[in-house]
Amino acid sequence: MNESPIRMIEPELVAPDTWVVRQVAGEGLGPTSVYINSSVILGEQPVLIDCGPAITRADWLETTFSLVDPADVRWIFLSHDDVDHTGNLAQVLEACPNATLVMTAFMMERMGADFGFGLPLPRMRWINHGERIDAGDRELVAVTPPVFDSPTTRGLFDTATRTYWASDALGCPMPEPVDDIAELDHGFWREAFTVQQQMLSPWLAWTDPVRFQRLIDDVRGLGAEVVTSGHGPALRGAQIDSALNLMAEVPYLPMAPAPGQADLDAIVAMLAAGAPAAAEELAA
Ligand SMILES: [Fe+2]
Ligand SMILES: [Fe+2]
Repeated sequence: MNESPIRMIEPELVAPDTWVVRQVAGEGLGPTSVYINSSVILGEQPVLIDCGPAITRADWLETTFSLVDPADVRWIFLSHDDVDHTGNLAQVLEACPNATLVMTAFMMERMGADFGFGLPLPRMRWINHGERIDAGDRELVAVTPPVFDSPTTRGLFDTATRTYWASDALGCPMPEPVDDIAELDHGFWREAFTVQQQMLSPWLAWTDPVRFQRLIDDVRGLGAEVVTSGHGPALRGAQIDSALNLMAEVPYLPMAPAPGQADLDAIVAMLAAGAPAAAEELAA
């Protein structure tokens, strides 16, 4: 196998006591790369939001537990069951014996192929859309984002900092890693953001825009001051409104064409030109 095209960058403090643990994936394989993020809330009862991908396990564990002592973690919130969010779950459960695993019944069922019956039912809490966790100095509210790529998805709204973890939604690929979408060309951001939402939820092409708008209004109604996500820079203030407004347009737009064989051929050719050994490994 080729060396992992994923690397950690420094975590970002996006709100008081609220960190985003960031990795960049796909650099050198195309014109853009994308974040693979998780989050840590350092409140009275510290929270981990998602558990990162397995492929960078050692770095992810080291970075995450440099922010919080694993013995202090009280909640492990899984936003959904995709492997880029659950890859280190077993290691986190072992390292954090005082933590309750917040997930859903369907999530557990879908993760059966990875974990069997290995997930500890007595340590679990099943939280569905609209339900809350009392984390001492804050309430955490499960809120499903308007787009998602797993039916188990719930985001998490922190009432203390008004930060909303949108899971896979509201992210954006980037030409190079940025802290703020203001660093991106605005036209690029509109295009890249739109395509990312369409890729996550291709059913947007068949969605009633008026009914979809209600979902967006529900998220807007949270009054989030910061939106973090698994696959984009944090959004702040007016950027959140801009992103939600753009999201509302997506059902009116034609689907973006998905990358196909010609794109794959171009990537393989690029790799062969720059690094023949790497391309051979990729092809193996
Ligand atoms: Fe996902
Ligand atoms: Fe994801």
